Amino acid sequence: MLSFYQITDLHYYAADILKPKGDAWEYRAKYDQKCVAESGAILDAAIDKLLTDKETEVVLISGDLVSDGEKEGHYALPEKLRRLTAGGKRVFVLTATHDVAPYPPYPKTYFADRGEVQSEGLRKPELLELYWEFGPKDALSVHRESFSYVTKLAEHIRLFALNDDGVGWERGFHGYLESELQWLKEQLEEGQKSGDTLLAMGHHPLLPPSPVYSPADEILGDHEKIAALLADAGVHFMFTGHTHMQNISYFDSPRGNRIFDINTASLIGYPSPIRKMTLTEETLTVETQHIDKLNWDLGGKSYLEYSKGHFEFMLRDILDSAAHDIRHFCEISQGFSLSKEKAWKLRVPISAAGKLMDRLTFQKAGRLLLCAKKIPPEMRERRLCDFVIDVVRNIYAGDEPYTPDTPEYVAFMALANRLMPILRRVLKASDPKAFLEGVLYNSGYPDNDAVLPVPKK
Ligand SMILES: [Fe+2]
Repeated sequence: MLSFYQITDLHYYAADILKPKGDAWEYRAKYDQKCVAESGAILDAAIDKLLTDKETEVVLISGDLVSDGEKEGHYALPEKLRRLTAGGKRVFVLTATHDVAPYPPYPKTYFADRGEVQSEGLRKPELLELYWEFGPKDALSVHRESFSYVTKLAEHIRLFALNDDGVGWERGFHGYLESELQWLKEQLEEGQKSGDTLLAMGHHPLLPPSPVYSPADEILGDHEKIAALLADAGVHFMFTGHTHMQNISYFDSPRGNRIFDINTASLIGYPSPIRKMTLTEETLTVETQHIDKLNWDLGGKSYLEYSKGHFEFMLRDILDSAAHDIRHFCEISQGFSLSKEKAWKLRVPISAAGKLMDRLTFQKAGRLLLCAKKIPPEMRERRLCDFVIDVVRNIYAGDEPYTPDTPEYVAFMALANRLMPILRRVLKASDPKAFLEGVLYNSGYPDNDAVLPVPKK
């Protein structure tokens, strides 16, 4: 039996060193999905929590260690991680796309007079040197070019830490170098010969965590090929990050071998998870824990309530300002990839749609779409805006709850069924009903707390 932790997407912004100031920083701190300003305090609290568990030694950290590659963050982070090693933990780190220069997103500092300014980052060899003690140092094998390595987590358990950062941008995906893939195949063969239990850690997910998560370049490059390669070599569990969403799903290779992708959300964005895994010969038990104390003014809230409030603030602000303050909408629109100029050009339809959304309850929408009788009574007064925010939040938190027996499902699908021809085109999905059901409820293994069977050889 082995128990171990995974945290991911720490996105540590070294605010205490960089001392960010001004409107651009205020904006970033408020309008990022993650709690960027609080990231150092959250990481410290997570480390404190991990240190209280004296039984569990291993901690996996699957990339996006710093906010956007700031070298100051990289220089400060090993010191924080050494608190874990000093407390008896063995820490295994990967870097990822937000860690490595010269690729975007670029490192940033914030000044009162100059706003957001690009700053310096570190390249792969410097990162490998900086984080050498957290994994590569005691590895069985290191692929230096990629910063991938194979290591022993316990006497008969081996981990493949597979780095996919910055590789493949020119090919439109994040994946493995040719030489890395060759090395991986050799290492898998070695692993199989050893008779060890084989596990993998990566940054990009093997599988999309939600139907809304569609961009191919956000999933591991050649994901089905790699999933099959790993599963057929006897790797049945891979621990990933990147999506900032909680998800557990699996892939069956054409040869009939299964691999689970345990995809974990960012430590600093709602729901701020710490995963604890316990592996036996029969099962992998996944448990999701949360930080409870934080050295930050949370306004009397628990940390989970606070991070939920931060997450919802931006969504609510977008919807509210579209309805009531179109100038403010144009100011914040770049946060969701709509330029200020384009938003201003589209201000009339955006404002009209915003006002409509703001006023619409399920009952009013049902009347407009001639399906009011199908709206369950408990849903009639619920605002569509609030429901949309719930659904988006649930996608990140995992375990989406609106199964076909819930009034939420019945009400939402009554409206959606009236709009299916439009939805088919907008969603670009061949089966828009299945797409929407995938957004409303989780039909596979639970995303947060699950007991997964170890596939038999
Ligand atoms: Fe991330």
